[in-house]
Amino acid sequence: MGQKIVILGTGGTIAGTAASPMDHTGYTAGQLGVADLLAGLPAAGNGADADRLIVEQLAQLDSKDMGFEVWVKLAQRVAHHLSLSEVQAVVITHGTDTLEETAYFLHALLMPSKPVVLTCAMRPATALAPDGPQNMMDALAVAASPGAGGVSVVCAGAVFGAEDVQKTHPYRLNAFSAGDAGPIAYVEEGRLRQLRPWPHASTGLLEGRAALLGRLADTRWPRVEVVMSHAGADGWAVRALVEAGVQGLVVSTTGNGTVHRDLEAALLVAMAQGVKVLRATRCTEGRIFEGANDALPAAPGLNSAKARIALMLELMQSS
Ligand code: SIN
Repeated sequence: MGQKIVILGTGGTIAGTAASPMDHTGYTAGQLGVADLLAGLPAAGNGADADRLIVEQLAQLDSKDMGFEVWVKLAQRVAHHLSLSEVQAVVITHGTDTLEETAYFLHALLMPSKPVVLTCAMRPATALAPDGPQNMMDALAVAASPGAGGVSVVCAGAVFGAEDVQKTHPYRLNAFSAGDAGPIAYVEEGRLRQLRPWPHASTGLLEGRAALLGRLADTRWPRVEVVMSHAGADGWAVRALVEAGVQGLVVSTTGNGTVHRDLEAALLVAMAQGVKVLRATRCTEGRIFEGANDALPAAPGLNSAKARIALMLELMQSS
């Protein structure tokens, strides 16, 4: 089995800098190179040993600005590296704000059996007590773990699956949760305490994904937007989006996939006009329990940002 661990840098707070070590919010994300983030990490027969690492700076951005171009590049580079026998795993440094989207995109597209581990930080690298170095060490520990696999997210000592993980806090260091699914594992003193199976053993999402990866760079991404069911949701936004040519709509629903009757009526009209519709619950825990008489299809277990990715991939797959 390969021993190399590839580290792909994309920016984020983990690579951010601020004018003062006490500043945890007024910093600029994506300033330091990924090689700088590795410098000074203790290496002693673990995943951080320099001769095991291949480092590549793929992008340098605040992840709120993540876009399809970087995603395509990322998917291609991850797939390339994973195909090499000497590569054991890929680690990706990423901002926390859209980390769950990138993780889910890579999961849904690649379903890798080798580990792809995304990590991040809530404090900039210049903070008095930055969290990035420990998160990086923990991510390397996961990457180097025999038996690890699939796309996971490591933050504040916990390892989450790409389908379940969600940023749930804007400030604290343990900003992620997997809801009632819980973490896959904890990293303690560089060792994994595993609680449940790795994500590559879970659902098969998209058949023919290798073919889609091959033509991803030349494929136009479909226009898929998210609308929300809320008090007074009357379908106005749906009609405007259909008029503007939207191809897919994710509806962020109340509770167990329920939709305001006026919004549902507009969505049914949109569906009849050829727009793909998918429900995802606004609840941060649990999953939609589908009923036999549901008028609109659901993406059980996915939040609306991930359901949007699932729908975009489905539309690209069938185009
Ligand atoms: C970002 O998402 O790039 C900035 C915020 C963060 O990483 O915590």
